[in-house]
Amino acid sequence: MPSFNPENLKKDFPILNQNINGKPLIYLDNGATTQKPSQVIEAIKKYNETSHGNPHRGAHQLSIRATEEYDLAKEKVKSFINAKSREEIIFTRNASESLNLIAYSYGMEFIEEKDEILLAISEHHSNILPWQKLARDKKAILKYMYLDEEGRIPIAEIEEKINSRTKIVSIAQMSNVLGSIHPVEEIVDRAHKMGAIVVVDGAQSTPHMEVDVQDLNADFFVFSGHKMLAPMGIGVLYGKKELLESMPPFLTGGDMIEYVYEQESTFAPLPFKFEAGTQNVEGAVGLGAAIDYLQNVGLDKIEKHEKFLVEYALDKMLGIPYVNIQGPKDLNNRGGIISFTIDDAHPHDISTILDSYGVAVRAGHHCAQPLMRYLKEPATARASFYLYNTKDDIDQFIEGIKNVRKWLGYGS
Ligand SMILES: Cc1ncc(COP(=O)(O)O)c(C=O)c1O
Repeated sequence: MPSFNPENLKKDFPILNQNINGKPLIYLDNGATTQKPSQVIEAIKKYNETSHGNPHRGAHQLSIRATEEYDLAKEKVKSFINAKSREEIIFTRNASESLNLIAYSYGMEFIEEKDEILLAISEHHSNILPWQKLARDKKAILKYMYLDEEGRIPIAEIEEKINSRTKIVSIAQMSNVLGSIHPVEEIVDRAHKMGAIVVVDGAQSTPHMEVDVQDLNADFFVFSGHKMLAPMGIGVLYGKKELLESMPPFLTGGDMIEYVYEQESTFAPLPFKFEAGTQNVEGAVGLGAAIDYLQNVGLDKIEKHEKFLVEYALDKMLGIPYVNIQGPKDLNNRGGIISFTIDDAHPHDISTILDSYGVAVRAGHHCAQPLMRYLKEPATARASFYLYNTKDDIDQFIEGIKNVRKWLGYGS
């Protein structure tokens, strides 16, 4: 693709070509899930029409084709995040399942009483609940790093909270509420010095910026396909090979075994040890096609475009006196997510009123209740951008925002 043109990209996404409440649909809920380009829809269709079978199980042609498609998708994921080998890539249902896998398998094996597990207060519930259970089961201690007023983790907080008692640090690369990009490199450095492992939740970062797991040097990295143009029900767990090899299986069943006896079994090598039962091959095919699409456009261009959109939107929003932004107000270390409130308007009202302008934004606690409590906000509205959003989309969004208070009966 010679140059980045969101208007042209938008044409690849059939769902975006419709009116909602008489206005062109402006989809700004990409943090929740993203839409699929025809290329992804077609790849799934083609797989179903030509190659569907149960992978890794049969000697017949369809099973062989399904196996090839599945393995090819895994190869694409491997290069997309620059893992060392395909064995380090496990397909799961989503980021939540990947995080559960780490907490149950690694956590139950290696965490002991009084060990510390460290999160940021901004984590998504999916990166809190598995650790709460692990801490309860193992009598370990769950701790949090807190944020400054701009929604960033201060370096002093990292240095204080990561100490010789810390065994796991699990942190989102980008906050799904504030859009802040956390200093993962510094966290990994400090954690490794202290003998802890680091889990990076890349659910919000992987779709929007170049990720290189070898550069990051994180021990585990997780993300979901549906937030990066792929179908729901396919997710990824990356783990360093030596760690994955040291861990017991999470789920057990067909295809993850080597030998099964009446009382005992041995397990298949990586990555199959962690992939019990029939896998989501069409999801994997869709994820592979989504990766092709994103790479064709260029992650660097996507990131740059989203920065432009955030800058444009923030500039307009900061000029409206009754709009309050939660999270970084400058472009430093932030991605394409803006959480906001409007004086005297409930975020659900904001979302409903924007919907009448054809604009889809999220409202609520965004699966981050501890953060909401920390911010002293019961809820916010959230606009989240992607490669197909345009400057005109932001204009329509801002026009909607300017009408929220009027709709609710306030003078201005
Ligand atoms: C930062 C973050 N982590 C984890 C998740 C969970 O993703 P999924 O529901 O696909 O498992 C989300 C979803 O919004 C998220 O934003």
